[in-house]
Amino acid sequence: MLNLGILISGRGSNMESILRSVKRKKIPIRPAVVISNKHDAEGLKIAGRLGVSVEIVESKGFTGSREEYDKKIMTVLSKYGVTPRNGLVCLAGFMRIISPEFVKKYKNRIINIHPALLPAFPGLDSQKQALEYGVKYSGCTVHFVDTGMDTGPIIIQAVVRIKENDTEESLSKRILKEEHRIYPEAVNLFARRKIKVSGRRTVIS
Ligand code: GRF
Repeated sequence: MLNLGILISGRGSNMESILRSVKRKKIPIRPAVVISNKHDAEGLKIAGRLGVSVEIVESKGFTGSREEYDKKIMTVLSKYGVTPRNGLVCLAGFMRIISPEFVKKYKNRIINIHPALLPAFPGLDSQKQALEYGVKYSGCTVHFVDTGMDTGPIIIQAVVRIKENDTEESLSKRILKEEHRIYPEAVNLFARRKIKVSGRRTVIS
């Protein structure tokens, strides 16, 4: 069975929805470890309550390079069996850019959720960007991580209609609900080996 590693920095609601779905929907993957780059991430307590091993690789005050930091992450992942051969790494609100070395080592085995319909509104504050731009629809995207910023092959997207009176908060809330639905779905497809990557595109069987 594949081993799952989830990387978080904060609230951890996507992590929670993945972990609960793995149990409830019998997704064939073993939740091996949750790693946070912040010792006070709220998600750590949730992971602990759900019986998943947690590790902290503190990034604040780390004086080495990005590559050196990611090496530490990869060492922890490997310790829990989340290897480039047998692992899946989910970024779930992990607020760090991943080094090209990490991406290459875990090629097409790192996935991320982004709160917009990529390629629109990459980077931070996507919901705010969408409102300010005036689009009528936004949503969320699960995609493979490549060396660009939110540019990897798209696995699943969900559309959310923007209302006239939406605030950043109300829109984020509706998008988050869809995130919690599609992220576990993507993990399920990956675990069942139903995703093929072909250039920029993914083919779901
Ligand atoms: C989510 O909106 C996700 O799309 C973005 O960061 C947020 C993380 O929230 N990448 P949570 O920690 O999963 O609750």
